Amino acid sequence: MKVLVTYVSQTGNTKKVAESIYGAVSDDKEILPLTEVNSLEEYDLVFIGFPVNQFNAPKDAQEFLKNKTVGKDIALFMTHGVPEGADPISDWISTARGLASGANIVGTFNCQGEVAQKVMDMLQNSDDPQMQAFAEMCASGKGQPDASKLEKAEEFAKDMVAQKKAWTE
Ligand SMILES: Cc1cc2nc3c(=O)[nH]c(=O)nc-3n(C[C@H](O)[C@H](O)[C@H](O)COP(=O)(O)O)c2cc1C
Repeated sequence: MKVLVTYVSQTGNTKKVAESIYGAVSDDKEILPLTEVNSLEEYDLVFIGFPVNQFNAPKDAQEFLKNKTVGKDIALFMTHGVPEGADPISDWISTARGLASGANIVGTFNCQGEVAQKVMDMLQNSDDPQMQAFAEMCASGKGQPDASKLEKAEEFAKDMVAQKKAWTE
């Protein structure tokens, strides 16, 4: 079985999760930034990760999910500034699932990731109370993803591989 871990990461959080997932896979594997992946043809299972960016996946990840995942077994992972369990996260996961509706989605993983200070400053200094409230929600994310979140990502990776193998063996 050949596994690909591919990701978009602007400030390194999603890349950390991607590396943990990659480290937990013991099959034939590759890890590549999304921009370096042209086709998924040679892979049996593909982990695709991205940060939530203005309530959705970044544009390049949206395109990738829509156009390159048809017929593939994929597992999605995302990092976001709000804490795990916050209300809008299930919508963001549904949106990503919808984009990859031609794929077989084996599972999803999400965790909080520290928001870049520049963005926090902008949110905190905004006149918009919604932006200020968003900054408050994200403040708990300092230092995330931490070791315990990365351990969860490893468990997720092992679970996804086990599920894929259970279907094919
Ligand atoms: C421009 C921008 C927009 C963002 N929009 C959201 C958002 O809508 N919801 C959210 O929870 N986090 C948002 N975040 C926070 C990021 O999703 C979070 O910090 C993520 O872990 C960054 O991952 P990366 O380091 O892999 O780029 C935003 C961050 C930036 C820089």
